Amino acid sequence: MLIELVIFLSAFKRAYDIRACGLRIFLILKNYYRTFSALLRWRRIPVLKGLIPDDKISDIKNSADIIEIISESVLLKKGGRNFLGLCPFHSEKTPSFTVSPDKQIFKCFGCGEGGNVFTFIMKQEGISFPEAARMLANRYGIEIPTQSMTPDQKKRMTEREDLFSINSRAMNYFHYNLTKNAAGGKAKAYLAGRGLTEDMINGFKLGFALDGWDNLVNTLKHKKVSLKLAEKAGIIIEKERGYYDRFRNRIIFPIFDAGMQVTGFGGRVLDDSLPKYLNSPETPVYNKSRSLYGLHRSRQKCRDTGIVYIVEGYMDYLSLCRYGIDNTVATLGTALTPDHVRSLRGYSGETLKAVLVYDSDEAGIKAAQRSIGVFQAGHIDDFILVLPSGYDPDSYLVKFGQESFLKEAAGAKSGFRFLIESAIKKHTLSFEGKPRVIEEMLDPLSSITDSVKRAICIKELSEQTGVEERAISEKARQFSASKASGYRNQAVSHHPRTDPGRGRQAYSGRWNKMEKQIITMMLQYPDILKEIETKNVLDRFEESTMKAVGELLIRKKSNAADVSDLLSWAEDPEQRQIIAELAIGEEVWDHEGCLGLIKQFLSSRRRSETALLSAIKKAEENDDQELLIKLLNEKQTQARGLETENQDSAGGESL
Ligand code: GTP
Ligand code: MN
Repeated sequence: MLIELVIFLSAFKRAYDIRACGLRIFLILKNYYRTFSALLRWRRIPVLKGLIPDDKISDIKNSADIIEIISESVLLKKGGRNFLGLCPFHSEKTPSFTVSPDKQIFKCFGCGEGGNVFTFIMKQEGISFPEAARMLANRYGIEIPTQSMTPDQKKRMTEREDLFSINSRAMNYFHYNLTKNAAGGKAKAYLAGRGLTEDMINGFKLGFALDGWDNLVNTLKHKKVSLKLAEKAGIIIEKERGYYDRFRNRIIFPIFDAGMQVTGFGGRVLDDSLPKYLNSPETPVYNKSRSLYGLHRSRQKCRDTGIVYIVEGYMDYLSLCRYGIDNTVATLGTALTPDHVRSLRGYSGETLKAVLVYDSDEAGIKAAQRSIGVFQAGHIDDFILVLPSGYDPDSYLVKFGQESFLKEAAGAKSGFRFLIESAIKKHTLSFEGKPRVIEEMLDPLSSITDSVKRAICIKELSEQTGVEERAISEKARQFSASKASGYRNQAVSHHPRTDPGRGRQAYSGRWNKMEKQIITMMLQYPDILKEIETKNVLDRFEESTMKAVGELLIRKKSNAADVSDLLSWAEDPEQRQIIAELAIGEEVWDHEGCLGLIKQFLSSRRRSETALLSAIKKAEENDDQELLIKLLNEKQTQARGLETENQDSAGGESL
């Protein structure tokens, strides 16, 4: 403030220039606006976190191990003191997702995402901090008073919990009908007839929905469960005259998520009537393009074997399991989506081979065409296994057994080769046929982004058709170019596509190197915080986000050991990224080195201040207004630093 007054008065003395004078008043006001809004920001942090009592947060933190939580969806390997895996938040080929068990934080060096166990859950589930905290609290049996949430959050959170709980009750009811109720006898007999043992029925909690319109409705009424919520869970349906059961006279397959919560159901008829299957509708907890039946049970085996079999149906899944091939999942009546592939890859690690099992060429071709791009984008090698005609996985296993199945599976063709062979079958390798085969392969080829894989595929296509590789490459290039220009046109009419990963990396490159080093030091060598504070080092920072992080560190007097706590306090995502990135490293600091860094930083800033003063003087002499504005602006930033320094030595005069 003192400095500003001096600058202002000196301008006033030379009041011949009204413009410069006005400019300075403007700059001073702007400066105070900034300080004021920074203060407001500071006030907001405790409010945000205060939604859940601090002692509860630390209870949760002490119970929830970040390695355990993240391991549920990402395969982590130990590398040094940290763990490494494939980032669940973007598609990557080599692991850059780092988790530190000591610091209980994670950081992806590919896309920039970083945080603690709460942030991980928030990002993964798309929920707010209090919701994530409650989710973890539930899991570890920690009670949190609900008045700590806003009405809206409370509603969303409790609704999810309620839906899971209603689903779980319904599951138990259906299971009881199948296993203990005489009326479930025919369903039991049906499943036995299809070879399912009691162990499997219990393990997968299979059930039976009784014949009739309101068995479940009445049970729910009797148990005083809200029918409105049950309707939202998709298990009953509302009509003018009231509610009725969605599933009637059907075998019930509960669908679980990774945390073993029941998200929805599938129901199969006992005979040949239609529709053969009924599935839960989309609900706040069930999304079929994300769910894979059996993943909760099979993921360990997928990891161990590096292979996942993907089948289309509940019964096929159960059959493979029954024959000991339990590295299997089933899609639920949808084509494979990028979400499916991402979760498969997360669960199973770097080298995953997906074998799609189909019961006919036609189904196989469709699936291969649709999913080749999805698998390529997810860096998973896809194979297609078409069973002999007339058999689906279940009936094949019943007839020929496990060994035969595994033999067939070992001979599964890559999705690309399978498509080539299908195209050749369709068009033949006649004079007119060949160009059609090549034409048909251009789209699958364009979805292979890895240049080496693409070259291998072109070679294969060339070998199979006898068309020169060069000619195929040229066609493929033209095709990709026209496809890309199509995308560009789309991008102009919609939102420009941005690559968050690249953007963030570029950003972290922009951070002032020395400031970044100082924050790293503060995070990893907290003994230095006092020194940073007394020397007002942060006041000399130019990067406002870095400075904010530094201030947070001083305010919390935190250290790297509870950097995870800090991440809960930093409300700004960019601040969180900085903290996670700089804390997760393993640099070794000593006190002397730290003092040296501080000294070096301060003297370099002083040098630039002196240089700035003389530049201002020169600009004034030359009457270069434009330059002067720029330099004075810079001066403002520095002045703020000097001001606090002066105040401090003068005994702390305040605003
Ligand atoms: P089984 O015929 O008992 O051997 O079952 P399956 O699992 O082999 O069924 P199928 O191969 O006929 O179908 C595969 C999957 O597609 C099923 O598991 C369902 O998820 C879905 N599906 C099949 N038929 C229907 C239907 O009529 N309606 C709906 N919504 N989904 C169906
Ligand atoms: Mn079947």
